[in-house]
Amino acid sequence: MPADPHGAVVLACRDLRYAYLDRFPALAGVSLDVLAGERLALLGANGCGKSTLLKVLDGLVFPTSGTVHAFGEPLTESSLEDERTSAAFRSRVGFVFQNADTQVFSPTVREEVAFGCLQLGLSREQTAARTEDVLALLEIADLADRTPYQLSGGQKKKVAIASVLVMNPQVLLFDEPTAALDPRSSAWLRDLMTTLGAAGKTLVLATHDLEHLTDLADRAVVLGEDHTVLAEAAPDVVLGDRDLLLEANLVAGPVR
Ligand SMILES: Nc1ncnc2c1ncn2[C@@H]1O[C@H](COP(=O)(O)OP(=O)(O)OP(=O)(O)O)[C@@H](O)[C@H]1O
Ligand SMILES: [Mg+2]
Repeated sequence: MPADPHGAVVLACRDLRYAYLDRFPALAGVSLDVLAGERLALLGANGCGKSTLLKVLDGLVFPTSGTVHAFGEPLTESSLEDERTSAAFRSRVGFVFQNADTQVFSPTVREEVAFGCLQLGLSREQTAARTEDVLALLEIADLADRTPYQLSGGQKKKVAIASVLVMNPQVLLFDEPTAALDPRSSAWLRDLMTTLGAAGKTLVLATHDLEHLTDLADRAVVLGEDHTVLAEAAPDVVLGDRDLLLEANLVAGPVR
């Protein structure tokens, strides 16, 4: 569903700059709005800053300079120190990490999926009902009693996705969601993202998957290897701009 062009801005970034350890640049002046109900793809080569940008949007990394607003309020380290603000933000924004290993930590899959709901203060009954629903939705009910860290990469990814969906956030940040998934699971996840978009969720998706871009996103932001925004356009416009794709290292040029 295309985003309402007059839709509310849910996440707004202005001139973000960030370098890891003050030495390794990841964002070098990035501005971006995420509109309510849109599906926004973040495209760019390895190391251009996609994961870092998602971490900033999720309040996990704080820019050295520049501003982030979430739902109209500043998103800062100190704003998230307030428990109520932090709980409200965490209930509205969910993040599926690129590397599921850093996201799963509970003794069983069922506890892993239930964790976020309990953190949000849902009752044990509500949590149990939602957990079973999401385990069934992701077709991982048979893994419920397994230890997450012993699962395969794709299974872990599904557990990580379940642990986010169970909280029913309004905004979902997906970092390379289909990486590590087999073809059937990837197709299934693309369908799920389409369903979530049609249900009015706001999706931000970091991806290298140009093949499914037009199905998955309403708008694309292309980050360059210089960690700035190279372009912002409809997916078919981005895909039709070969010079842009080459510049962003999203397609391979002639071998030198
Ligand atoms: N923990 C870290 N310590 C030091 N540098 C880091 C760290 N994480 C990322 N970087 C650097 O920051 C830059 C941006 O990394 P980021 O992970 O955001 O890129 P990305 O676009 O998500 O790449 P990929 O497509 O490979 O996932 C890279 O140059 C990377 O080496
Ligand atoms: Mg990444």
